[in-house]
Amino acid sequence: MEISLRNQVAVVTGASSGIGSGIAKSLADAGAIVIVNHSSERSTDEAKAVLKEITDAGGKGITYQCDVSKEDQVIKMFQDTVSQFGTVDILINNAGIQKDAKFTEMTIDQWNAVIGVNLTGQFLCAREAIKEFLRRGIDTSRSIACGKIIHISSVHEIIPWAGHANYASSKGAVRMLMQTLAQEYGANKIRVNSICPGAIQTPINKDAWSTPEALNSLLNLIPYNRIGQPKDIGNLAAFIASDLADYITGTSIFVDGGMTTFESFSTGG
Ligand code: BGC
Repeated sequence: MEISLRNQVAVVTGASSGIGSGIAKSLADAGAIVIVNHSSERSTDEAKAVLKEITDAGGKGITYQCDVSKEDQVIKMFQDTVSQFGTVDILINNAGIQKDAKFTEMTIDQWNAVIGVNLTGQFLCAREAIKEFLRRGIDTSRSIACGKIIHISSVHEIIPWAGHANYASSKGAVRMLMQTLAQEYGANKIRVNSICPGAIQTPINKDAWSTPEALNSLLNLIPYNRIGQPKDIGNLAAFIASDLADYITGTSIFVDGGMTTFESFSTGG
């Protein structure tokens, strides 16, 4: 059994670091042409480094700067991708940020920034992707589905998270966005799913793993007793995007070492 994404074009948002970079590499490994999206000038070098790893390993792709919370930029990214590569087959809606604050001290800017990238960004990219899927229609030389969207959500789409009301709210909403799109476009053979990562070792949660004390306390939340790696998410993303997963749509799959079993209950309750 082989996971193949040959001949398919994948847009991976927020792919210059963290989970997005892991997914970009896994999809390229499976044969997809990958658009390594990054949000700003500042992340250009990181995006180029991810692309270099991909091309050094024999894969194909480009880097593309676009802030997913900006409608005009998202529309242009999809237009440019279609004019360069013909179409888009896979969208990985990954770009995400945290702006943490105690709720009563959370500013409107912190709230809007997180909702803007984590939710509005996923809406804008999904809308442009679905328009392109429908324009192209099914082409079985590429995939038996008309298109695939994978939202990168979080365990915090179901675990409330004190001090992170903006982030948890954005992820809870992503679940409804995903399920609604799966329902609305199922008849068009567009598959829409979410991956919900737990603690993955990336820059977004550096404070939770960069000292031995922090890592120890993090591991108390993870029955499997290790922090996750971007590859753990990339492996699943490649599978869900492939035709092997053709009957999977409208669902959230948790990749969290058991975090959602609420390990703190293992000794009481
Ligand atoms: C957050 C991380 C956190 C993890 C588990 C993720 O969605 O971005 O900061 O470590 O959830 O709590």
